[in-house]
Amino acid sequence: MSEDKKINEKDKHETGKDGGKNPAKVLTVFSIKGGVGKTIISTNLALALSMKKSRVVIFDMNFHSGDVSSTLNLSPELSISDLVDNIDFYTPKDMENILTPYDDNLKVLAAPIEPELASSIKPELIKETIDLLKEIADYIVIDSPSYFHDTVLTALSETDRFYLIATVDLLALKSALITLQTLQLLDYPEDKIRFILNRSKSKVGLTEQEIERSLGIKIWSQIPSDRSIPMSVNTGSPLLTYFPKAPAAKSFFRMAAAVRGDLHQPRHKREKAA
Ligand SMILES: Nc1ncnc2c1ncn2[C@@H]1O[C@H](COP(=O)(O)OP(=O)(O)OP(=O)(O)O)[C@@H](O)[C@H]1O
Ligand SMILES: [Mg+2]
Repeated sequence: MSEDKKINEKDKHETGKDGGKNPAKVLTVFSIKGGVGKTIISTNLALALSMKKSRVVIFDMNFHSGDVSSTLNLSPELSISDLVDNIDFYTPKDMENILTPYDDNLKVLAAPIEPELASSIKPELIKETIDLLKEIADYIVIDSPSYFHDTVLTALSETDRFYLIATVDLLALKSALITLQTLQLLDYPEDKIRFILNRSKSKVGLTEQEIERSLGIKIWSQIPSDRSIPMSVNTGSPLLTYFPKAPAAKSFFRMAAAVRGDLHQPRHKREKAA
């Protein structure tokens, strides 16, 4: 491909209204309760964004037991642990080589293949990694672990949108409340937080209004409980390619459109729910 053509191809990716490139956005998917759907949401949201020609990297921050690669049926050979001693010398091109491609637009920065290397990953590495990823992606979607570790706090300070996930059950909602209180103590900017309710429409005796009232935050987006999700995991293909017409898949496409609107539209239009 000629150099001119390469440049034109590049320009097809995220460009602002004035034709200028939008800066990369960091989207962090979080919950202090495990098993609420963080990996499903980060992988499918990332895939939905990439299907509209954005360059997306999923950064798997579950350094002890990352699930993103298996969810996308990938077998990474390299991971963040390959950056540990080298990051200071790395160019964006070197960073590209560490990623595991799902396709041209969606790539994964995998969690360590040997989990014992997790402890060598320090907060400074997270900051430098995100800085480099911003050079090669339009969106960096972080699948975070279920705790506020130093590495997570560094990622949070680089984050443009913090997606708090809960399912419709009392324990998950209690964890979401603790997370919101912790963020308040940390003086985390409230306008970056968006609340996503997973497995909504489950008939378990809690209404949306009760949930919003008890947490003091509006539900920004919802994903219904949908058996296509575990079925897609079990077949090793992401929901959006396995069953794009499933109700949950439609929610992810809507969520991706809402993410773009939220991040790239004028402020007064941004906080509309997905
Ligand atoms: N909306 C949904 N409908 C049906 N099943 C779902 C839904 N969301 C998630 N699941 C199922 O719940 C399980 C947990 O999801 P997932 O692995 O994404 O959670 P997690 O928060 O990443 O967990 P962990 O804390 O272990 O990383 C998976 O088996 C997934 O298939
Ligand atoms: Mg997970």
